Amino acid sequence: MSSVPTTARLIDGNALARSIRDDVARRVAALAARGVVPGLAVVLVGENPASAVYVRNKVKDCAEVGIASTLDRLPADTSETALLERIVALNADPAVHGILVQLPLPEHIDEHRVIEAISPAKDADGFHVSNVGQLVVGEPLFRPCTPYGVMKMLEHAGTRLDGAEAVVIGRSNIVGKPQALMLLAAGATVTVCHSRTRDLAAHTRRADILVAAVGRPNLVTADMVKPGATVIDVGMNRGADGKLCGDVDFAGVSRVAGAITPVPGGVGPMTRAMLLVNTIEAAERGAR
Ligand code: GUN
Repeated sequence: MSSVPTTARLIDGNALARSIRDDVARRVAALAARGVVPGLAVVLVGENPASAVYVRNKVKDCAEVGIASTLDRLPADTSETALLERIVALNADPAVHGILVQLPLPEHIDEHRVIEAISPAKDADGFHVSNVGQLVVGEPLFRPCTPYGVMKMLEHAGTRLDGAEAVVIGRSNIVGKPQALMLLAAGATVTVCHSRTRDLAAHTRRADILVAAVGRPNLVTADMVKPGATVIDVGMNRGADGKLCGDVDFAGVSRVAGAITPVPGGVGPMTRAMLLVNTIEAAERGAR
């Protein structure tokens, strides 16, 4: 299989994320000249191993570009009240420009209540209803990092969005819904598919832009893709072989698509880079 030449252009998330981090580092230096150090507060509750890795990477990324970050590691039995009190303190801390509470939270904590406690002006994830609403009306303050990164990748790949058919598979608050809104704002005709969609392939075959964000290995196969389409794989799964894989059958779809993102090295590094962008933008707004 691997000897078959691929035709799709690879959209390199690692390279694009690197250039975005370089740009953020320049903006951090410009703020430093004015005595402002951008700050991101990361809060992790409990011991979810995947969350621990994500959070460690976010802190490392901040250090690389000169953003000051703090990491609050709270025990799994932290009360909702204690977490809300911590957020109130971070909201009031002038050194903190962005706040991120890693999800998922332990079951005894109401995720929605926690997100709504974060000041919308510091909501680096863009999950607060105020920021979601801003996105709906087309004037976003913070955009959720993963769909924001996908938009940057499409722009970088030169994919035409105006008038294009875009299909998003997945309707989560973190990816699917905000992705659909961003594509819509860019002039695409957007269809959102999900677990209850009757004939998924009938929709995906019409897509000039196909974004898969469900968390099912090999959900998207070559027969479901329009020749020449741009395929963005947001999935992050462990395959049966233990390797990281996305939602798209990469080997098969590469022979049909015009451009495609790999996993790993595609959307993942872009999500991390856009958190830095959201944080520097918050600090720049604060310095104005
Ligand atoms: N868990 C999975 N993705 C995310 C994300 O983008 N932000 C936060 N806070 N938690 C997550």
